[in-house]
Amino acid sequence: MTVIELAKYLKVAEKITVLTGAGVSAESGVPTFRGSEGLWKTHRPERLATPEAFTRDPELVWEWYDWRRRLVAKCQPNAAHITLATWSQTYSKFSLITQNVDGLHERAGTATTIRFHGSIWELCCWNRCSSSPERWTDERVPLSPIPPLCPACGHLARPGVVWFGESINKDVLTRSLSSADCDVFLTIGTSGVVYPAASLTKEAKLHGALTIEINPEDTPHTEIVDARFKGSAAQVLTAIEAIRGTS
Ligand code: OAD
Repeated sequence: MTVIELAKYLKVAEKITVLTGAGVSAESGVPTFRGSEGLWKTHRPERLATPEAFTRDPELVWEWYDWRRRLVAKCQPNAAHITLATWSQTYSKFSLITQNVDGLHERAGTATTIRFHGSIWELCCWNRCSSSPERWTDERVPLSPIPPLCPACGHLARPGVVWFGESINKDVLTRSLSSADCDVFLTIGTSGVVYPAASLTKEAKLHGALTIEINPEDTPHTEIVDARFKGSAAQVLTAIEAIRGTS
């Protein structure tokens, strides 16, 4: 399938679902997790992104999240985020499921992003106290104090993200699975190795969707999708949109 063919297909498709990963934010300057310069090359996930790590050393975990918040605060959405935001405003049945916690899709103007792994801009009470909301937004950069505290009970607050070993929010999972029942499913900038997000492409295929991958590298999805576009998210989406938006 060529870019022109896909753009024409998208023009007439009704229900479009996109799954994004760290690669979509790479061109904004946000580091990915895997690959030669990925975060997991220099940081061990089990020391920073598990409930056990937080129990052991909440200050260390929060310092890492605060560093990432400061880094992301300086980044801007790129052409990939902007094209997807345009689609979210163009199609009445458009779903964007992101594994990214950086909030760049929302900053680009995508209104209803399904945040599969939560948001670094949200906090939760570690004690799950009944007086605080389930999660609240705190966009202060840098955060102070570190570790931050729950304003209701004064105990520790935790980042509003999903850590290794934790389950995906039930509502998020239900909405994602229902979005996988679509006409076109695009998986963009994700290594496709973290479950259950990685299972959504197969799910879409079972529903008969046209499945597309955009990624400069091969992934486990490359062999199962109907068409793959080898390139950066910003480049490929800009090329598609130049045709879809005008033809
Ligand atoms: P990864 O770092 O695993 O994968 C990033 C993917 O983006 C790779 O396949 C790259 O080839 C691709 N990529 C790099 N630059 C790109 C570009 N400019 N355009 C398009 N693609 C590009 O990130 P994720 O797949 O998002 O989870 O990782 C999934 C989850 O693993 C994350 O949400 C995070 C992580 O551990 C948690 O923290 C729970």
